[in-house]
Amino acid sequence: MTTGLSWRLAEPADVPHINALTARSIRALHAGSYDPTVIDEAIRHAYGVDWQLVRDGTYFVAEIAGTVAGAGGWSYRHTIAGAHGPDDPAGKRLDPALDAARVRAFYVDPIHVRRGVGALLLRLSEDGARAAGFMTAELTSTIPAVPFYAAFGYSPVREFNMRLPSGSTLRLELMDKRLVP
Ligand SMILES: CC(C)(COP(=O)(O)OP(=O)(O)OC[C@H]1O[C@@H](n2cnc3c(N)ncnc32)[C@H](O)[C@@H]1OP(=O)(O)O)[C@@H](O)C(=O)NCCC(=O)NCCS
Repeated sequence: MTTGLSWRLAEPADVPHINALTARSIRALHAGSYDPTVIDEAIRHAYGVDWQLVRDGTYFVAEIAGTVAGAGGWSYRHTIAGAHGPDDPAGKRLDPALDAARVRAFYVDPIHVRRGVGALLLRLSEDGARAAGFMTAELTSTIPAVPFYAAFGYSPVREFNMRLPSGSTLRLELMDKRLVP
């Protein structure tokens, strides 16, 4: 594991920093996978923190030597994608016996990729979902992140198109994984 890598729960004061890190991450890591105009619009309207996860205590921050290196989490609510602000209504709760937990909003600072930050955040998220009784997890992956989730056992289910305000679409991949044997 990377020296000095640690984690904590995200707090409201982290949100502006995580949103800035998100924009850096998407610009650096999505070039070549999406059209630049889609990247710009998605940064404004689709990517970023979902405040509900911060409030629910299911969103984590990873730090390297005390600096935020990435963020990601999980949810026991229906919302499966998108940034959501502090005034947005809370999504309906999922039933762990019937539904899949959501893995949500993973962003790693481009200067810290491939150092195990995403892996740490994913382990924390899956542990949290399992402890809450969920047997499966579901997520919508960006196209460049599919190999990351696949490396941890997620399988592609189908393509998922998120509609952006201009009418263009952001192509994502719905993926799932069984969390318990
Ligand atoms: C996807 C993302 C979160 C991965 O974070 P990361 O900290 O670099 O991932 P890790 O270092 O923990 O990678 C663990 C393993 O996943 C796999 N992996 C990660 N990124 C990969 C990539 N770009 N291509 C292929 N495999 C990858 C590898 O097996 C890697 O192990 P290795 O480095 O020993 O080969 C990061 O690339 C990112 O922030 N992307 C932009 C934002 C985004 O699209 N997020 C997903 C939203 S759904």
